[in-house]
Amino acid sequence: MNKVIERTMIVPNMHLLTVEAPEIAHKIRPGQFVIVRVNEEGERIPLSVADWDLDTGSITIIFMEVGASTGALAELKAGDVIPTCVGPLGNATEIKKYGTVMCVAGCYGIGSIFPVARELWHAGNQIIMVFEARSSYLLYWADRYVSLGAKIFNITRDGSLGIKGHVPHLTDIIHSLPSLPDQIVVNGCTFLMAHTSKVTKNLGIPTVVNLNPIMIDGTGMCGVCRVTVSNKMKFACVDGPEFDGHEVDWVEFLARRKQYINEETSYFRHSEPKPIEHKEGKCHS
Ligand SMILES: Cc1cc2nc3c(=O)[nH]c(=O)nc-3n(C[C@H](O)[C@H](O)[C@H](O)COP(=O)(O)OP(=O)(O)OC[C@H]3O[C@@H](n4cnc5c(N)ncnc54)[C@H](O)[C@@H]3O)c2cc1C
Ligand code: FES
Repeated sequence: MNKVIERTMIVPNMHLLTVEAPEIAHKIRPGQFVIVRVNEEGERIPLSVADWDLDTGSITIIFMEVGASTGALAELKAGDVIPTCVGPLGNATEIKKYGTVMCVAGCYGIGSIFPVARELWHAGNQIIMVFEARSSYLLYWADRYVSLGAKIFNITRDGSLGIKGHVPHLTDIIHSLPSLPDQIVVNGCTFLMAHTSKVTKNLGIPTVVNLNPIMIDGTGMCGVCRVTVSNKMKFACVDGPEFDGHEVDWVEFLARRKQYINEETSYFRHSEPKPIEHKEGKCHS
């Protein structure tokens, strides 16, 4: 049982959830995730850990409300308990001194990439952040990245902040820099990761993506999270979730992610309707 310390909607459809999890807080490394079950009947869903506090023994997750489980998580209040929070799972991000690292993030990835950027900064790297969103009101946590001395670029679809456009405009940002970044890390929706990898492959910049396939056990037992990387089958939960974005079979990945779309949609159609809070925040993938 894990007690909820805080659950707040930080921007439309995006929530911050802090739960007591002292053992996880002491072991977690940037890039790792937990598996959460919101109630006894609930499914297990994987969520990255966006921050942790050793003093309070808590971990913080940023999640986007997209379906039944994240919808139930979005109703939690301080003092509630969740029956399952297992982790840390997956491999940690490889942290070393690359030189300049560009972190590209959108939707929940703006939160999940924070510990990665912080640790890379501690390792002596210069950090460049690129945030992508439909509009400026969907962006958050800029102050945290400013505290890392990061140079920040924004790409918004409506042009309300930074460059007006979409991921392909990343090329313009990269070309505006004095030199190419030495490493790129991407967190967020599948579209963002796939398109960033396409852009950076053309530029020859090593790119790591934090893959988000459907998962069940998260420990390499069920095979649901299999992905093809460098023409080899990998299990994202134990071999990843981070992989070389230039080597991922994105066509297969996108198809596998959508495999239960009818069931997910039908569940929603038959469940009790609830007031919709700002669905503009929905993922773009
Ligand atoms: C390693 C990893 C880290 C993740 N980190 C975050 C995070 O920090 N914040 C966040 O908002 N989301 C994260 N996700 C995605 C998150 O797990 C899904 O959004 C969530 O499971 C959706 O559940 P749902 O019932 O609310 O929606 P559903 O209606 O079940 O599904 C909505 C969408 O989520 C996908 N999905 C459904 N079940 C799963 C599952 N068990 N595993 C993965 N994807 C699924 C579906 O393909 C669909 O596209 C992560 C996924 C992985 C694999
Ligand atoms: S989630 Fe079951 S093998 Fe990865």
